[in-house]
Amino acid sequence: MYKNTVTLDFAAIVKPLIIMFGLSEAAVDMSFKVPASAAQDPVKNALQLPGDKPKSLMHHGAEFTHEQLLPGPRYAALENAVVRSLQANLSMKNTHAQFYVQSRSDAYTSVSLCNWTLFVLSSAIPDALFGPKLARGNIPLLNAFDSFSKYNWKLWYGWKDANDVRKYKDAFVSEIDKFLDLPLSEREADESWLWQRMETAYIAAGMSRIDITQRAGLLFWVSNSNPSRLSFWILNFLLFRPDLFDRVKEELHAAMPSPDSQLDTDKLANESPLLNAVIEETLRIVIEGASVRIVTDPKGLQIGGKVIPHGARLFAPPRQLHMNEKVWPDAKSFHPERWLAKDVPGKKDHYKPWGGGVTFCPGRFLAKSTIRCFLAIAVARYDISLGPWQVEAKFKLDEPVNGPVYPIEGMDLKLRLRVKH
Ligand code: HEM
Repeated sequence: MYKNTVTLDFAAIVKPLIIMFGLSEAAVDMSFKVPASAAQDPVKNALQLPGDKPKSLMHHGAEFTHEQLLPGPRYAALENAVVRSLQANLSMKNTHAQFYVQSRSDAYTSVSLCNWTLFVLSSAIPDALFGPKLARGNIPLLNAFDSFSKYNWKLWYGWKDANDVRKYKDAFVSEIDKFLDLPLSEREADESWLWQRMETAYIAAGMSRIDITQRAGLLFWVSNSNPSRLSFWILNFLLFRPDLFDRVKEELHAAMPSPDSQLDTDKLANESPLLNAVIEETLRIVIEGASVRIVTDPKGLQIGGKVIPHGARLFAPPRQLHMNEKVWPDAKSFHPERWLAKDVPGKKDHYKPWGGGVTFCPGRFLAKSTIRCFLAIAVARYDISLGPWQVEAKFKLDEPVNGPVYPIEGMDLKLRLRVKH
């Protein structure tokens, strides 16, 4: 399904979705329109891009995204900025610690795991993309964004009463608007190459300022709603499996032996098999949602002996693949060791947490690195343990979600963080 871009169309799905998000129809038309020639391509001209093929704004945007998010010369700058953000956010002295600290004693600080991962991680990737002036310590933005992340399914599924989601969306996007109002001289130095390119491209194409704000909101959302929740689940699984956590800590310590040492991100990526197995296994069991395409062939589409009619929406939910007992024995249980085998049987065809085809998530490298760095810095700075009477969180499966599931309400975990000296 992912590879078929001729009889299965993604643009037809995306256009109404981004209009629902708040982009004007004019901006959407402008985004998909291919200029008549390279000489008339405003983005090419403004950025002096090579090549003689004109491209739509969407096409240019995807190329910029790939150029910085996929491993290559521009990727390291983003990863370094994420590490700087995590170093700052993982201090108990920062302005938003009050939102996750529940109590303090001489021996340890008690925190809510949900809020800790939310307030530390939700500004890490935005800090790298837009610089720290947008999200770091911006409580109204982070709170509104959290509520939007939780309920945005109401927008996509056309829920009758979605006013609350629009309110959350407007609240977080209005913070982005304030940020874009800053003079370039106050934000440019910390912004990523990617956002600078995108903003220049939107301006060159003639997009209005309000539409540029909405586009920044879309990038904020697509890049940011998953890593914090994924980290919640990873710590939940590890804290209830102390032997496994100890083995993972050995890999984390090898990459960052003390709070002051330089973090070795290559070691985390390439020499930490158990840590990476824990991340893959968590993705396998917590990811919900579906990639969606529309059948555009007037004759319909034949798949597995069945004809899907023209105009139908085709949903590809990864959960069914991820829970296939024939491929993943004891599929509902958390067994990271299954990823340590040389050939993991389901990896190619029964594992799709990042989607596939033209929309294959380009942020997967940065997302995984962010989570690994978060764990390495957290474990270097703190002894992390469960507070008393904690029970392992359970999945909330009664509402749709795109990305990692939420825990059932009230199933947050209380942690004790003891500073290491
Ligand atoms: C754990 C974290 C993440 C997960 C599970 C995830 C998952 C996904 C999935 C499943 C898709 C495909 C959607 C579809 O086919 O309909 C996607 C697309 C995308 N993701 Fe991610 N993502 C994550 C993090 C990120 C990050 C950190 C970034 C950017 C920094 C990012 C940027 C994007 C973009 C730009 C697309 C759209 C690609 C396109 O349409 O061309 N993602 N992601």
